[in-house]
Amino acid sequence: MNHHLPRSSAHMLMLGFLFTCITMMWFSFSVPTFQVNSLSFPVTAPCANKTPTRQKKSSFSKSEHCVPKVNIMFLKTHKAASSTVLNIILRYGEKNGLKFALPNGQNDFSYPDTFRRVYVKDYKPGACFNVICNHMRFNAPEVEALLPSDTFFFTILRDPALVFESSFHYYKRVIPLTWRIHGEDKLMDFLNEPQLHFDSNGFNSFYLKNIHFFDLGFDNTLEPEDPLVDRAIRAIAERFQFVMIAEHFEESLILLKDALCWQMDDLLFFNMNTRRPTSVSQLTPELRAKAREWNGVDWKLYRYFNATLWAKVNAYGRKRMEQEVQKLRQKNSKMAALCISGGMAVEDQNIRDLSMRPWQPVGESSILGYNMKSNIEQPFRDICRKMLTPEIQYLTDLGVETWAESGQEKQILTRSPVLCSTRATPADRQSCFLLQN
Ligand SMILES: *[C@@H]1O[C@H](CO)[C@@H](O)[C@H](O)[C@H]1NC(C)=O
Repeated sequence: MNHHLPRSSAHMLMLGFLFTCITMMWFSFSVPTFQVNSLSFPVTAPCANKTPTRQKKSSFSKSEHCVPKVNIMFLKTHKAASSTVLNIILRYGEKNGLKFALPNGQNDFSYPDTFRRVYVKDYKPGACFNVICNHMRFNAPEVEALLPSDTFFFTILRDPALVFESSFHYYKRVIPLTWRIHGEDKLMDFLNEPQLHFDSNGFNSFYLKNIHFFDLGFDNTLEPEDPLVDRAIRAIAERFQFVMIAEHFEESLILLKDALCWQMDDLLFFNMNTRRPTSVSQLTPELRAKAREWNGVDWKLYRYFNATLWAKVNAYGRKRMEQEVQKLRQKNSKMAALCISGGMAVEDQNIRDLSMRPWQPVGESSILGYNMKSNIEQPFRDICRKMLTPEIQYLTDLGVETWAESGQEKQILTRSPVLCSTRATPADRQSCFLLQN
């Protein structure tokens, strides 16, 4: 038996060995990037026991019974009146000098990536904030590391049939799966045969199935009967002190006020980012049922938290709730009369001040906006302006470089969704933002 390998075989072996080494090294650097990076962070939450000092004297009045909460995490879900909640939080935080963890040059934390603390603008190890409230795919440990341990976590859910309709309409141009549907009514075609049209590997497919469960950080392709779903719902109920329901928006706000020890004036709002009624597909009862069935996990989630909401309303007192909702409505309509020219939202082309235009889905102008009255006296002028300022412009005012420049939309139309991939350049991701939000 010859134990000596011929020269060429030895070479081959050597080369093979080198190749294996290089491949392994390459893998160890490229694959588990998450682990590699997370090791460089402190293991314990640096800010668990302290509250960041506020940048200016707070203007809130303490009531006799409670101290207003200033540490807030709002998980901004998609298509669920969350822009209206965001406007409330931004105003509250600004008024009270709270420290926001803001996204880096977009209005989301690198969504749909799972949230990581490095996605926060100007992040430094040990950074600690009062408020996080922009779109993200939730990731509890990374969020908790940035906030004091007494932070109040809340979110908002909406009937998944309506979320689906809205999401389908809003994002269809960035979901290639919908491009293959050629019928007159794509939404109906999809819901009639979802299995035929859906592919969980499709680009941006999460917009088409259980988007809220996805936003909360879980697997949106699970079946509602899967025990993992029940476990996830329990985890959500433990982590989030409160879940608002968009269909009961005002009741939810009153309960929020109670939980956070806020004032009625902190809750004033105008509906932001609403759609022109004619662009909303009226779902037949049959299609509505199909949409709920298709989004079965979100439907289960929604029913669970609708029940907890109403349990809270009952504990609060139904009569008392009705009175509070009435008060809020009166205050809101007073503000509308004071601030809004014509008293209501108008079509995009009728918004006179371009800085007040909300972002539109690609190729459309279906989102309504507001004209502010021109002769409002101080201090109401500032309040009105803030209440009417769309999300992107508000974030820009707070220092996020959202490059809000009009006219950019048209240019983007012709670009491909590759812009939105995680490998895209920062400039492309900014363009992608236009497509997605
Ligand atoms: C939400 O809860 C209320 C009060 O129990 C109930 O009347 C309503 O039907 C529920 N909504 C859904 C969609 O389950």
